[in-house]
Amino acid sequence: MNVKPDFSKNANQATTAPAFLSVWDMHAYYGESYIVQGINFNVHEGEILALLGRNGAGKTSTLRAIARTGSPETRQGEIWLDHQPLHNMSSHEAASVGLGLVPEDRRIIPGLTVEENLQLAQIAPPIGWSLERLYDLFPRLGERRKQEGVTLSGGEQQMLSIARALARDIKVLLLDEPYEGLAPVIVDEIEKTLIHIKEQGMTTIIVEQNAVRALELADRSVILDTGSVVFDGTAKEVLENADLRSEYLAI
Ligand SMILES: Nc1ncnc2c1ncn2[C@@H]1O[C@H](COP(=O)(O)OP(=O)(O)OP(=O)(O)O)[C@@H](O)[C@H]1O
Ligand SMILES: [Mg+2]
Repeated sequence: MNVKPDFSKNANQATTAPAFLSVWDMHAYYGESYIVQGINFNVHEGEILALLGRNGAGKTSTLRAIARTGSPETRQGEIWLDHQPLHNMSSHEAASVGLGLVPEDRRIIPGLTVEENLQLAQIAPPIGWSLERLYDLFPRLGERRKQEGVTLSGGEQQMLSIARALARDIKVLLLDEPYEGLAPVIVDEIEKTLIHIKEQGMTTIIVEQNAVRALELADRSVILDTGSVVFDGTAKEVLENADLRSEYLAI
């Protein structure tokens, strides 16, 4: 009999620190396709959580469900952010209470400059980071503030997408594959800014194919497999557990 090792023993465990973001028994569907199959995890204030798993494990779907994008559709479960229930909110409402999703495709708005992309995010109060602070974080964006956003390089567009999330007053940054397609030197640059953002107190969930880099950055990790949580623990535990990595991350 092939018995898979059980790495999920830590999942759902009560922790001493109160959770900042809690996902409880979340089930989500694309039409009749049952994708997110009852997942639970907590994120503590100020930490970076690496949400990992193989292709198709449900990472993007989980981020989109938390951000209330409507697709996938959540039919059961609760999501709480800083004592506020999100599970009945629209994406607009979830954004207004502090969820900042940086989607994989970056969504830079065509026809607008770098600065206009950022200003558009600042239309509705409460406003987050000022332009000055964002340009301090990403000097390349400051240098290119008058350039049309969609003409930036891939790495610069990723920076703009992160900056745009911070331009609103967010409590949690949700990053879907921020390093995808970028040269290692640009990944280094973005990683440094993510560390700086954490030092300012931000709570972050990072989804990354580059699991080792995400784990080196993260405090904790949740690993998904076919829409379920199969591991919930420290990033260090994953880095040190070769069986876990080969079983669920293929590294
Ligand atoms: N819009 C959709 N309609 C139907 N099924 C979808 C849709 N988007 C994703 N899926 C399916 O949901 C499952 C989870 O996909 P998801 O994109 O969440 O995985 P992922 O972990 O982000 O994968 P990857 O590492 O490839 O980005 C996959 O089987 C995928 O085919
Ligand atoms: Mg994905």
